[in-house]
Amino acid sequence: MTVKIFDTPEVQDFLKTVAGFDQAGGDERAKQIMHRLLSDLFRLIDDFDVTPEEYWSAVSVLNALGQGTQFGLLSPGLGFDHFLDMRMDAADEAARRNGGTPRTIEGPLYVAGAPEAVGFARMDDGRDPDGETMWLTGQVRDTDGKPIAGAKVEIWHADSKGGYSFFDPSQSEYNLRRTIVTDAEGRYTARSIIPSGYGVPEGCATDQVLKALGRHGERPAHIHYFISAPGYRHLTTQINLAGDPYTFDDFAFATREELVIEGQRIEDAAEAEKRGLEGLFTEVVFDVELAATDAPELQTRHARPRAKESEEAVSEQAATAQV
Ligand code: DHB
Ligand code: FE
Repeated sequence: MTVKIFDTPEVQDFLKTVAGFDQAGGDERAKQIMHRLLSDLFRLIDDFDVTPEEYWSAVSVLNALGQGTQFGLLSPGLGFDHFLDMRMDAADEAARRNGGTPRTIEGPLYVAGAPEAVGFARMDDGRDPDGETMWLTGQVRDTDGKPIAGAKVEIWHADSKGGYSFFDPSQSEYNLRRTIVTDAEGRYTARSIIPSGYGVPEGCATDQVLKALGRHGERPAHIHYFISAPGYRHLTTQINLAGDPYTFDDFAFATREELVIEGQRIEDAAEAEKRGLEGLFTEVVFDVELAATDAPELQTRHARPRAKESEEAVSEQAATAQV
């Protein structure tokens, strides 16, 4: 039997009480947002005639997500991260802040404090038996094409099995994570290994939610970047290596046409030797354009819980997904 009680005065008064409207303490914005959230959910329960069984099974899924600290994994899968990017893009456009390499999502697997080097760094520990050598390089420039020396380029990516160090305890500390400061010509270069695509672990709570939607949890091979320099807008972005079956079918919705890069396979032994490599390798070139800004708040990444970024246990825990 379908009943609809949402619009009754009892329910409307009840929602105000639940959201603390009649209480002097608490946070006004939290009250407003909770009131709206609960109202939308109560209405949904009425409209879809949600049964108690369905409601409690949803509570179970939320508990499983929380137990596995998986909300940060599910968030991109449900499009929230990309939606926030779309809002930041729209805000930039409205403020006529244009130019620069496009942003895309950070994802949940950044770890702060990676080793820093100037100009060049080797990112892999040499222990991945399936690791194919990647030569990753590029120039950081302003929107007039002028090189930016001393820019901070933070790079992180998965190994040949799609795992990220720290979250995958079998990898060494900070494997495939480095901060490279650009040289006098604005260039950065990393020796690393070609990352594999990433998949949400089979059977985890995030996977269960995606399966219920008939969706997969795969990401194409990608490389994450934070790029910053004083006087320029901080950039959070990623590149995708072209040719991956998931390039335009990314469960995290992070792909942008401008950020798909074709690696160049180089088989010339002399070229390899010049770089101190043996055998063939793949060169990936990603040049970055940063837009100038005077606003200090646009020069740094926005705050969120990140692994090892803060000493606060709560932040660490929230950032640390079990993947
Ligand atoms: C997820 C994993 C990633 O490596 C990434 O870049 C974005 C999202 C995830 O599991 O949600
Ligand atoms: Fe990633």
